[in-house]
Amino acid sequence: MDAQFLFMNGEFIPAERGVISVRTHAFAYGTSCFEGIRGYWNEEKQQVYLFRLREHYERLLRSCSILRINLPYTVDDLIDISLELVRRNGQHQDVYLRPVAYKSDEIIGVRLNNLTDQYILTSEPMGNYVEIGGLRCGVSSWRRIDDNALPARAKISGSYVNAAFAKTEALQNGFDEAIMLTHDGHVSEGSAENIFLLINGELVTPSPSENILLGITRDTVIKLAQRELGLVTRERQVDRTELYVADEIFLCGTGAQIAPVIEVDHVAIGGGKMGPVGQRLQDIYFDVVRGKHPEYSNQWCTPVYTQVAQAQR
Ligand SMILES: Cc1ncc(COP(=O)(O)O)c(C=O)c1O
Repeated sequence: MDAQFLFMNGEFIPAERGVISVRTHAFAYGTSCFEGIRGYWNEEKQQVYLFRLREHYERLLRSCSILRINLPYTVDDLIDISLELVRRNGQHQDVYLRPVAYKSDEIIGVRLNNLTDQYILTSEPMGNYVEIGGLRCGVSSWRRIDDNALPARAKISGSYVNAAFAKTEALQNGFDEAIMLTHDGHVSEGSAENIFLLINGELVTPSPSENILLGITRDTVIKLAQRELGLVTRERQVDRTELYVADEIFLCGTGAQIAPVIEVDHVAIGGGKMGPVGQRLQDIYFDVVRGKHPEYSNQWCTPVYTQVAQAQR
């Protein structure tokens, strides 16, 4: 069922009233930034857990400062609004929260300063975003946007046209997902995912200066791989051809979760099937996000329904 409520202009309103003017600055110029946050339903505990809420809102506020957006909310306020929205919607299922901070003025003219900032939050039911049983990827002819042009470390709406070009090309060429390179030809990331390679028993992922979004799932993977599998992650420059010889590859992100890659440019990776490390990390990740792994869940999973949470204590 569609969500009944959303949060806009400081209040919870019926979802059908959540409209913006066609003249909105952010609509014309892409001057908004956003987050994608997942909530996971745990049947046994009758609870929805929102995953790494604090880190998502800390990143949203960093994106806002790059885009010169001033929100009248702290991270704690944004967390409280999220919990309240899911409760008001009575959602007892997997959900996807989409906070958007945007330039709301109805004016013509590109700039970021002296404009009005607004905030919207929606919460929708959500399943898988990409296939998680084995992706076929193509290296894109579209290069990843550069930090000096449109900073990838901020989740700026306008920059997703770059991702859309790459994803469309990949789909039309018969692949499931794109892998984008930087301007100097090194591996950057997927259209909406970070990338990991398993090489000689170590995980390798492009470093923050490779025009990636510093993913929260990326950070989760680095920590889980170290603590649960004893695997070190090297953050470094990655050559395109390392993609073709890696033992395993997987993409990760809030939407994609952990999605093993079984082919790149028609070259089979790890024999063309999901490898043991990707499989293991995927299993651990799903336990963690559903609140089934107390060591991590207590720190990373925020329960929505407080009465249930209190009853469990
Ligand atoms: C371009 C891009 N890279 C990486 C990610 C993964 O980030 P996260 O794990 O924080 O969702 C996303 C998704 O938000 C993305 O849009």
